[in-house]
Amino acid sequence: MPYEIYKTAHIIFLLTFIASTGISFFVETQNKQVRMIGMTSSFLMLVAGFGLLARLGIKDWPLWVTIKLIIWLILAIASPILARKLRDNRIWAFRLLMLLFFTAVVLAIYKPT
Ligand code: HEM
Repeated sequence: MPYEIYKTAHIIFLLTFIASTGISFFVETQNKQVRMIGMTSSFLMLVAGFGLLARLGIKDWPLWVTIKLIIWLILAIASPILARKLRDNRIWAFRLLMLLFFTAVVLAIYKPT
């Protein structure tokens, strides 16, 4: 598949992942569907990320890719757990997660290392 398709998928699933994170944190009535959408979109975003790496011919991961992977792992694991378990400080956990999303975006654009 071409680079553009992977990139479009990466960004569309990123938007879906962020939206479902917001819903799972702040919408009172939760259902299984939101959790499923969050999990599926985060996974497909990862798949598209690997597709992008292949299309760009990146074999030895630079540091920005490794950091993005770690950020992805934290977000994919921590978001659903925090959304379910946290009672106080939800807004602070959410802000922290958003900061991780923003960091990953900056890394993708500036590729500092
Ligand atoms: C929450 C985590 C992530 C966020 C917020 C994110 C965000 C983004 C964004 C916004 C872009 C487009 C950048 C541009 O057009 O210049 C991008 C590109 C990219 N992402 Fe991610 N990403 C994440 C995770 C990952 C992961 C886990 C991988 C690797 C498996 C990855 C690999 C890539 C690659 C290779 C590109 C293409 C860079 C380019 O075209 O120059 N991303 N990412």
